[in-house]
Amino acid sequence: MSENQVTEVLKHIKYPNLEKSIIDLSLVDEIVSHENSLNISLKIVNTQAFETLCDTIKNNTKLKEIFSNINVTNKVQPPKKSLNYGSTQNPNNRAPYAKNIIAVSSGKGGVGKSTVAANIAVSLAQDGYKVGILDADVYGPNIPRMLGVDGESLKWSENDKIIPSINFGVKIMSVGLTTPRSDTPLVWRSSVAVSALIQFLEDVDWGSLDYLVIDMPPGTGDVQLTMAQELRLTCAILVTTPQMASIDDVSRAIMMFKDVGVPICGLVENMSYFITPDTKQRYDIFGSGTGAKLSVDYGINFLGEIPLSMDIRQNCDSGKPPVVLKDEVIRGYYKQITNKIIKNN
Ligand SMILES: Nc1ncnc2c1ncn2[C@@H]1O[C@H](COP(=O)(O)OP(=O)(O)OP(=O)(O)O)[C@@H](O)[C@H]1O
Ligand SMILES: [Mg+2]
Repeated sequence: MSENQVTEVLKHIKYPNLEKSIIDLSLVDEIVSHENSLNISLKIVNTQAFETLCDTIKNNTKLKEIFSNINVTNKVQPPKKSLNYGSTQNPNNRAPYAKNIIAVSSGKGGVGKSTVAANIAVSLAQDGYKVGILDADVYGPNIPRMLGVDGESLKWSENDKIIPSINFGVKIMSVGLTTPRSDTPLVWRSSVAVSALIQFLEDVDWGSLDYLVIDMPPGTGDVQLTMAQELRLTCAILVTTPQMASIDDVSRAIMMFKDVGVPICGLVENMSYFITPDTKQRYDIFGSGTGAKLSVDYGINFLGEIPLSMDIRQNCDSGKPPVVLKDEVIRGYYKQITNKIIKNN
């Protein structure tokens, strides 16, 4: 069997949990065949995925018929150790009341973090978990509107704790609930913003939580680092859109979380495509497949794609997260992501 024929066989071997083959994803480094020996070198960052692919290739019947000796090696060396940012190696535990703390983050702004965070939180609550959501975007707090509590303001309990707002079974805290109007600007230095968040972690009556979902501001700044230092984050979920500008930015966010030692639960590709309501034709407005490729390159899980949808935008604007609505298809996108998160933690 020639090397080209081996390539043809490998075109049918899919990367675990993805619809693309290792050839489509350019993960094969070299193929060398000699008589009954076949050596394949792959380029796979995720060691678990490498082991799965190794077994699949070695047990492939077409290859086994020809080659009695199949070797699969990985060109990618194990990742280098974390840069050790000191304090993030042993983070404080400002939220001991939460069993799992999940940060929803992105490199770029406006890619859909808050939408994903709000829907995941409600979806977890629908599954019977005790859930809180902390809007850590102090300069652009959108969670109150998305979860329909934007008219509410801060309440204090008798023991001087802040009472979170509650809707759809989720406890909600946001700087947006502390300002008199939704258009009140917050002109805070980042140290003040960070102190406000610490207060929300410590002085809010969260009760005991199965999941605390944190909606992060965009980027890799003070808030992200503080959260990694002050909380034992279970993991981070990264949201991106398919276009390269967003992919570049989310790559930086992935590296930041890896460097500060926060496990990454996976990547969500939002606004992946648009299906016209009349002709049902699909348009890949921002490109396609880049999120899946990125997750392979960085060895992180791909949690799913969410299309660009007018219903998602309209309902989020009016305080009804799509997971509470009847539309099974739209609910399904977020449910699938939530199920993967529950499985991974
Ligand atoms: N899949 C989608 N289809 C259509 N609109 C969407 C989708 N996801 C999010 N949106 C809309 O895009 C806008 C931005 O989303 P969102 O606020 O969740 O982004 P973000 O990443 O949190 O932004 P920021 O960086 O400003 O915090 C919102 O109006 C939201 O309703
Ligand atoms: Mg946001």
